[in-house]
Amino acid sequence: MLDVAKTTDKSYADGRILQSVTDGVGVITFNNPDKRNAMSLDMWEGLGHALIELREDADVRVVILTGAGDKAFMSGADISQFEKTRHNAQASEEYSKKSAAQRALLADYPKPIIACIRGFCLGGGMQVAMAADIRLASENSQFGIPAAKLGIAYGYDGLKHLVSLVGPSWARLLMYTGVRIDSAEALRIGLVDRVVADAELWNATTEIARTIAGNAPLAVHAAKITIAQVLKDPDARDMDAIKAIGTACMNSEDFREGRTAFMEKRKPKFKGR
Ligand code: COA
Repeated sequence: MLDVAKTTDKSYADGRILQSVTDGVGVITFNNPDKRNAMSLDMWEGLGHALIELREDADVRVVILTGAGDKAFMSGADISQFEKTRHNAQASEEYSKKSAAQRALLADYPKPIIACIRGFCLGGGMQVAMAADIRLASENSQFGIPAAKLGIAYGYDGLKHLVSLVGPSWARLLMYTGVRIDSAEALRIGLVDRVVADAELWNATTEIARTIAGNAPLAVHAAKITIAQVLKDPDARDMDAIKAIGTACMNSEDFREGRTAFMEKRKPKFKGR
């Protein structure tokens, strides 16, 4: 475990986005439990602020996204805003633009992100969870994209993530029906990586986060960059980026520390350089 005390406790969007840091682990909480953590536009903005802060905080090695309360990770976009902000194609385009910066932040985030999912994970909640690197869920969770039930066309990024996680056939079944599936099914089709009992979810999540936080940051970053490039179309891949992070990693003080610590039978102390 890293020796970094709890350093930050902040909130955005009138307290509906919470941010904290403990032991090198940043946590962002969607905090709108009365609406099952439905995401309003100001919450999207708050999420962006929190992601940037945690990205710039050198002590933070990994970020957990979670929902407040025990009922939902996120029930998707706040539908009560749709009549004003998303009622036709033009408004919808404007609406998308407002969350585009935050979605781009998630897509290009340099640190690992873990989605800790308890309860409903629907629509935009799925989109956020799928943009994370790792998804852990409690047994009582439910997943779905009810776009067809609302008359919404889903965008390229969301469907790209869905198809790459569950394959085209399950993506079609989920999208055409808008059906909700439980954790066991989500695990079976590859939508989530691990399912644990409700009471164990937070500990299981922080244990993985702390393990990542205690590893060599450049090596974790190298894995993140390289896996992201593998997922791109071959002609869009940035092989130079893979080479650059590989060189930085293999020339790093941390690589020296990693092998020295192994030989000296002690825990390594990584610095991220
Ligand atoms: N946007 C706005 N409000 C939402 C919401 C959303 N996405 N999801 C839930 N809420 C609100 C409900 O309107 C309700 O408000 P009220 O107390 O003022 O009546 C409150 O949250 C609780 O929801 P409720 O439906 O009573 O709870 P539930 O536990 O029976 O069901 C859900 C929870 C999440 C399954 C259900 O609320 C739902 O289907 N939400 C919409 C999900 C969706 O379509 N998301 C995609 C949006 S693009």
